[in-house]
Amino acid sequence: MAGRNMKTTGGTVQVDLGSLNPKQKLFCQSRTRYTAYGGARGGGKTHVLRVKAYGGALTFPGIRILIVRKEYPELEQNIILPMRKMIPPELASYNGQMRMLFFVNGSTIKFGHYGPRDDDEYQGIEYDWIFMEEATQFTERQFRILGADLRGVNDIPKRMYLTCNPGGIGHLWVKRLFVDREYRDGEDGKDYTFIHATVEDNPQLMKASPEYVQMLELMPEDVRRAWRYGDWNALAGTFFPEFRKETHVVAPFLRIPAEWRKYRVFDYGLDMFACLWIAQDFEGRSYVYREVQQSGLIVSEAARLALDLTPAHEQISCTIAPPDMWNRQKDSGKSMAELFAENGLGLLKASNNRIQGWMALKEMLKPLKSEKDKPGLLVTEDCTGLIRNLPVIQHDEKNPSDCATEPHDITHICDALRYYAVTRTLGAEMAVPVSDEDEEEGMSYDAAMTGGEMTETYLMFGD
Ligand SMILES: Nc1ncnc2c1ncn2[C@@H]1O[C@H](COP(=O)(O)OP(=O)(O)O)[C@@H](O)[C@H]1O
Ligand SMILES: [Mg+2]
Repeated sequence: MAGRNMKTTGGTVQVDLGSLNPKQKLFCQSRTRYTAYGGARGGGKTHVLRVKAYGGALTFPGIRILIVRKEYPELEQNIILPMRKMIPPELASYNGQMRMLFFVNGSTIKFGHYGPRDDDEYQGIEYDWIFMEEATQFTERQFRILGADLRGVNDIPKRMYLTCNPGGIGHLWVKRLFVDREYRDGEDGKDYTFIHATVEDNPQLMKASPEYVQMLELMPEDVRRAWRYGDWNALAGTFFPEFRKETHVVAPFLRIPAEWRKYRVFDYGLDMFACLWIAQDFEGRSYVYREVQQSGLIVSEAARLALDLTPAHEQISCTIAPPDMWNRQKDSGKSMAELFAENGLGLLKASNNRIQGWMALKEMLKPLKSEKDKPGLLVTEDCTGLIRNLPVIQHDEKNPSDCATEPHDITHICDALRYYAVTRTLGAEMAVPVSDEDEEEGMSYDAAMTGGEMTETYLMFGD
C-alpha cells in the first residue's frame, strides 16, 4: 500500500503504511458493504485490519470508525497498542478514558469490547466503518446490531470489515453469509465479499517463523485443516469431531420397517421447537429419519405439528422430552407436560444431565460392534438441520466435557438428540436404578406417559 501525506499544523507528515500481501490488498480494495477476511491463523488478518482502519482515517477526514473485539485485553494488546505505535503523535492523540484516537483531520477511531451483555452500548450509534475482529466470537445478533449502526448523513461509504477464523460461536453465520453464500429474505449476496487467506498468503510470517508452520503441521488433522488452510468444514473445537457426513449420513428410507421401535424426542421453548423421529433396528442401531425445527409455537401448536408430521401408520413407542417440561407454570399451575398431554402428546421425561447425555451421544456415534461396523447412530440426509448443526456445536470454553450453549438456534436440535441418547443409554442400565432426589415417588408409568410426573427410577438419572 502506498504511503500517504497528511498536512498538520506543523507541516506535512509522511505516513508509511508498509506493504500488503495480495490477499490483504483484495481486502482493502473491496467495495461491498460487508467484507470478511478469513481463514488461517497467521494469515495477516489483524495486521490488515489495523492498516485499513488507519488508512481510512487518513483518506476520509471526519470518518467515524469503530473497532470491536469480544474481550478487552486482546483488543488492547493486538489492536490499540500496535496502532498507537504505528500512528505518529502529530497525526492523532489517544484518549485512554474514551478509548478513542482523535486525528487532526477530524477522523476518530473508537475501540470497543463487545461481550454478551453489552448490546445496549452498541445500539443506535452511528459509524461509517466498523471493524469486527475475530467475528466468529460474536453472535449473528451482535453482527446485526452493529450493522444497524452503519449510517450517517455524510458521503463516506458505509462498510463493515470482519476478520475471522473457523470455529467459535459465530462459525455458522459467518460461514453461511461469506463462505456458503446462502441468503435469507432481506439479505443480498452482492453486499458480501469473502477473502480467503491461508498461512501461505502471509510470506512475512512464513519467513520470520517457519517453526509456526511446522507447529501447525503437527496438529491433529481437523485442527490443522482449520488453522493452516482456513477450512470452514474442518472445525477446530467442534464438540462432535466423530460426526462425519461420509459415515453418519445415509439415504432416506423408502419405508421404515414397521417392526422397528420408533421414538419422538424434542426440545421445546417458544424460541424453538426442535423434534426428531428416531427408529431403532434389531441390532440396536438408531436412525434419525425425520426432523422439524420451528420457532414461536405455543404448546398446542407444537403438539399438533409433531402429530401431523407422524403418518397414521407409524407407531411411536413414546415421546421423550426434557425434565423442565414438568415444571409447574406460575399462571395456570399446570406443567407443560400436562398441556402437551391435553393436546394428544404424552411425554416421557429424559434426564437433563448434560455431561452424561453428551457422552451417551458420543458413544452412539461410534461404530456399533467392531471398528469396521457402521455407527450406532445414523441420520438420513433429509434431516438437514441436524446434519448442519451437530458438527458446528462447539466446546464450552470453561468446561471441555460440555458444549457451548450458544448460539441457541443451533443447540436445540442437538439437545433433543441428547435427550434420546441419555434415555436410551441409561434406560439400558435398568438393573442399577439411580434415584433422583428431586423427584417425587409413587406415580405410575401410565401417569407419567399422560403428562404426570415420571418416577420410574430406571428412567431418571440425577443431574
Ligand atoms: N503485510 C504485512 N507486512 C508485515 N508484516 C505482516 C503483514 N501481514 C502480516 N504481518 C505479520 O505477520 C504476523 C501474523 O499476522 P496477523 O495479522 O497477526 O495474523 P492473523 O491475525 O491472521 O492471525 C504478525 O506478526 C504480523 O505483523
Ligand atoms: Mg489476529
